[in-house]
Amino acid sequence: MTQRRQHPRGLFITLEGIEGCGKSTQAKLLGEFLRSEGYVTVETREPGGTPLAEKVRSVLLDRASEPIAPETEAFLIFAARRQHVMQVIEPALTKGAIVLCDRFSDSTLAYQGYARGLDLAMLRSLNRIATLAIIPDLTLVFDLPVATGLARRRSAPIQNRLDRESLQFHRKVRAGFLDLAKRHPGRMKVVAAGAALERVARAVAQAVAPMLSKHRRGAAEDSPSPRISSPHFSQARHALR
Ligand SMILES: Nc1ncnc2c1ncn2[C@@H]1O[C@H](COP(=O)(O)OP(=O)(O)OP(=O)(O)O)[C@@H](O)[C@H]1O
Ligand SMILES: [Mg+2]
Repeated sequence: MTQRRQHPRGLFITLEGIEGCGKSTQAKLLGEFLRSEGYVTVETREPGGTPLAEKVRSVLLDRASEPIAPETEAFLIFAARRQHVMQVIEPALTKGAIVLCDRFSDSTLAYQGYARGLDLAMLRSLNRIATLAIIPDLTLVFDLPVATGLARRRSAPIQNRLDRESLQFHRKVRAGFLDLAKRHPGRMKVVAAGAALERVARAVAQAVAPMLSKHRRGAAEDSPSPRISSPHFSQARHALR
């Protein structure tokens, strides 16, 4: 797949992996680290990241809702993503920010494709529309055994619709992420997520470091340094759970 770079100034990093693998924890730590280094960051998540997309997220994660067809689920996710890219991700990248997104396109391929069985080519094609063809510069795949992830999830205060899925389902999701990482070794880096939090954070920092040196050089060419002031961005920053 050819990478169409619509974000020459910013850096787009996505965090992916099964339930409870530590995406949100590491997104927060990485954001704190980057800001302490003087970078402008926008932390956001999928599904969600804008008021409309957050409503779609509630629909998707609602445990009480009627059975959702895999296609319905996919269309809802793409609808939310299109909005999120237009309102938050694309403008932030254009302004030169480092965007940290907790789940993105690879989750759709892993969950709706590998696990639910929807056609991957169809998902990729719809995804190009939803993302305006934006592809992450770096995708961190947090990998750990499904049982460990689910055990971590069980300590969460709120259980969601995906917590009801079978072990088999979550295993397919994990295998999907690992297969995607194998197919896109340049963009996707697998991080061993079963280790202690600090060790995982160090592995994340190592994976991000080469991108930062490039970004810093790019940012130095484009002074003054970018500033993010739109209300969407502060909304997005607080969207992490
Ligand atoms: N390396 C770690 N070791 C032990 N516990 C961890 C580690 N990383 C995160 N946790 C804990 O595991 C739980 C799940 O972590 P987190 O919410 O970051 O995962 P997630 O991938 O965002 O999950 P979800 O798929 O539900 O969004 C939290 O209670 C978190 O504090
Ligand atoms: Mg999370």
